[in-house]
Amino acid sequence: MDNPEKFYITTPIYYVNARPHIGHTYTTVVCDAIARRQRMMGVDTWFLTGTDEHGQKIERSAAAAGCSPREFVDRVSREFRGLWDRMGITYDDFIRTTEPRHVRGVQAMFTRLQERGYIYKGSYSGQYCVSDELYVDTAEPGAPCPECGRPTETVQEENYFFKLSAMEAPLLKYYSEHPDFIRPETRRNEVISFVRSGLRDLSVSRTSFKWGIPVPNDPKHVIYVWLDALANYMTALGFGSDDPKDRRKLQRYWPADVHMIGKEIVRFHCVYWPAFLLAADLPLPKSIIAHGWLLFEESKMSKSRGNIVRSETILDTLGQDALRYFLLREIVFGQDGSFSFDALVQRFNSDLANGIGNLASRTLSMISRYFEGEVPYPSTSERIPADEAIARLADQTIADCQAQFEQFQFSRALETAWSLVAAVNKYIVEHEPWAVAEREDKDSRARLATILYTSAEALRVVTALVHPVIPEATARIWTQLGLGDIKALDLRNLAWGQMQLGTKLGTVEPVFPRADKSMVERMQQMEQQGAAESANKEDEAKAATAEAHPAGAGAQGQPATQAVAAPSSAPPAVVPSESENRIAIDDFLKVELRVGEIKVAEKVKGADKLLRMEVDIGSEVRQIVAGIAKAYEPEKLIGRKVVIVANLQPRKLRGLESNGMIVAASLEDGLPVLAGFLEDVPVGAKLK
Ligand code: MSP
Repeated sequence: MDNPEKFYITTPIYYVNARPHIGHTYTTVVCDAIARRQRMMGVDTWFLTGTDEHGQKIERSAAAAGCSPREFVDRVSREFRGLWDRMGITYDDFIRTTEPRHVRGVQAMFTRLQERGYIYKGSYSGQYCVSDELYVDTAEPGAPCPECGRPTETVQEENYFFKLSAMEAPLLKYYSEHPDFIRPETRRNEVISFVRSGLRDLSVSRTSFKWGIPVPNDPKHVIYVWLDALANYMTALGFGSDDPKDRRKLQRYWPADVHMIGKEIVRFHCVYWPAFLLAADLPLPKSIIAHGWLLFEESKMSKSRGNIVRSETILDTLGQDALRYFLLREIVFGQDGSFSFDALVQRFNSDLANGIGNLASRTLSMISRYFEGEVPYPSTSERIPADEAIARLADQTIADCQAQFEQFQFSRALETAWSLVAAVNKYIVEHEPWAVAEREDKDSRARLATILYTSAEALRVVTALVHPVIPEATARIWTQLGLGDIKALDLRNLAWGQMQLGTKLGTVEPVFPRADKSMVERMQQMEQQGAAESANKEDEAKAATAEAHPAGAGAQGQPATQAVAAPSSAPPAVVPSESENRIAIDDFLKVELRVGEIKVAEKVKGADKLLRMEVDIGSEVRQIVAGIAKAYEPEKLIGRKVVIVANLQPRKLRGLESNGMIVAASLEDGLPVLAGFLEDVPVGAKLK
């Protein structure tokens, strides 16, 4: 092989209980751009994605859809694959956790951990969160999950446990010896302090449902979904197989160079996964990189919040490049970013249609018109400083853009590339090749050749640099430039001045026709229609399963809540009889309610009811003292999202300043219960 270097990159494997949306697309496109660029740098690259198909959540979604888990996972997994194909995702393998190769590999991993003495049998009785597939150490039945806020369920099970507690010291040692293992730095610090605060053994089997991988020799148990899911990164390469071909592949590509994940699954990847691997004496991945969330209408896009945007809507209107470019250009990698149709169309028009699209069409059509479709020789005598400036800028752009891509600064890398586009578009306007073409003298002809050569060469450079991000349009520009198949391009050698003179252009066609404003509305309508269609499907499915549950009992065998929406034609349940005690909305809006996250919680000495907390409310961290010590143990509150009255006058309690109030239900003859959220919400969000 030319280059012995290898690069193995993975996306998380996506749950099939929800249809794909542009949040999933974001991670996948980021990985695809990285993988494509690595290949263009001559590196032997392996890019894995796939679907996570086991667990109670999926078992229930299948029941709600009125089909068997198998049919259900086949359908949604197919949707993911279909979408990635339309998005131009160049994955090398797609792993499904229901495939025999994966099942075999997970069982091999379990046995290996067992044989090495890291798995033992024990019993658990307590609360369980189905959504996160997580045991929650809280005594109260129905208490919310600290991760997602959804109500937990009471379970009593005999389980296999993994000795996670034994991995505390080895993990901390590993983190400190491998500073680049978890990125960015903020996530690394969070992980280290989480591990430092103490690890408890982890239950790694379930008996409460069937849809999973059986524990070897004890099929009453299925293997914990996160152990099952995380192992995909190795089972896809052949872990657990005796076939020499698989062994070679595993040897070649493992350990992974990059596990790309969203920030909400950091703990699973940065604590559990390395702990399993250390215990199994297997090499750890080289880096785990957590990116931020794609927000829509200010909160994380997710099915449960009902605020998703489907990639298909954008594919059907503006195409794959528009979405790929938007996601990488608009979101600063590592941070949260917002999606809106307005911003998408704006970016499309300014950067793609008016930017690179315009540069390509004016340059190529002038070469067609004035030089019969052959890239002209630049004149040596008719050169001016402006021509040299473009050449210098192009070389600088190559260096900067490459370095920025290398450091995952996609948005900056694209910004850099687009400054070259802008400079060349300006150069064309200032040097008016169309006017130069009117003059018939020899010098003008040479000048025209230089201007068009310079523009075409700059176009070639930009096209090469941004190919990993907008593969479709750049491949077309490449053939229009007469350079053949862009796949043959080697990015390592990219430099100014390599355009073959006299190159014959291909057929010149516009690559990015401008989108008019009505496009925003069209996409919004398509989304509404799509949402209504899937809601109808879900309603039908729920109606079908509702019959299977006795009236008055929720799906989880708990009493149903009373939050049943009345049909719109029915009279409201509560008719206001008097208005004197009511307040105007303005009065309510005076109270500033915000989502806060508890960072620190501790008992106040000498006050058995009080807790001192430090709560992040987005703009700042506040000290708040509250009378909830009897209801909550301080360490269980860390990381919990709560509602804070943020604009109360500060007051002193036991000598401590309390700067805000935490909202809780106060019960006549019970302990206070903190208000929380069933869905994840960003810290600092306003309640109104
Ligand atoms: N199945 C697990 C992962 C197991 S990996 C061994 C899972 N699946 S998921 O379907 O919920 O997908 C999670 C990933 O999708 C996130 O980590 C993130 O990469 C991506 N995203 C889903 N919604 C997203 C946003 N709104 N914004 C950005 N990325 C998002 O967790």
